[in-house]
Amino acid sequence: MNKIIIYGSIYGTTKMYAEELAKETKISIIPFKNLDDINNYDTIIYFGALYAGGVLGLAKTFKKLKDIKDKKIIIATVGLADPKDEINITNIRNNLKVQLSKEVLDKAKIFHLRGGIDYENLSFAHKTMMTLLYKKTKHMKEERMTPEDKAIIATYNKKVNFVDLNKLNDIIKEIEN
Ligand SMILES: Cc1cc2nc3c(=O)[nH]c(=O)nc-3n(C[C@H](O)[C@H](O)[C@H](O)COP(=O)(O)O)c2cc1C
Repeated sequence: MNKIIIYGSIYGTTKMYAEELAKETKISIIPFKNLDDINNYDTIIYFGALYAGGVLGLAKTFKKLKDIKDKKIIIATVGLADPKDEINITNIRNNLKVQLSKEVLDKAKIFHLRGGIDYENLSFAHKTMMTLLYKKTKHMKEERMTPEDKAIIATYNKKVNFVDLNKLNDIIKEIEN
C-alpha cells in the first residue's frame, strides 16, 4: 500500500501532528502545496488547520482525486475551538460538506484535533482579523456564543498550545485497520 501524509499548516501546530504521525508510522509526508499527484496513493491522510471554518488546502488537494473506489481517506482538522464540543464538530462537518465532494466525505474517516495560537507570531492580517472578531464577540451573551467564539475570547492576545500528540493513537489505529 502506497501511503502519504499531506498537511496544510501556517504556524506549525498542524505540521507538528503530521510530522509526529510520519515519525511513528514511517509514512512519507508532504505539505499540500508540494504534492505531485494525489492519485499515486492508496491511503491518504490529510491534516489541515482550520481558518475561518475552512480546512487549509483541503478542497484544492481532494479536487484532483479521480477514482476513490479503493482508497482509504483519513482527514484530521486542527483548530482552536474545543473538538469535544458537539456544536463545534457539527460546524466543522457542515463546512467539510462545502469543501469536499459527497463521495470523498462519505468515504473519509474524520478526526478533530486541537492546535494553538501565539498572537506574537500572527501575521498582521490574521491579527487584525482576530481583533475584529474579538471586538464583535466580546459583547455577546455567552449562551449565544459558538465554540469558535468562546475560543477566540479565551485565547485573545495570548500564547496557548493545546497540541496533544497522544490523540494520534486513534488515527494510527485507523491506518492499521
Ligand atoms: C485568522 C484565523 C482564523 C481561525 N479560524 C478558526 C476557526 O474557524 N476554527 C477554529 O477552531 N480555529 C480557528 N483558528 C485557530 C487555528 O485553527 C489554530 O491556531 C491552529 O492551531 C492553526 O494551525 P497551524 O498552526 O498549523 O497554522 C483561526 C486562527 C486564525 C489566525
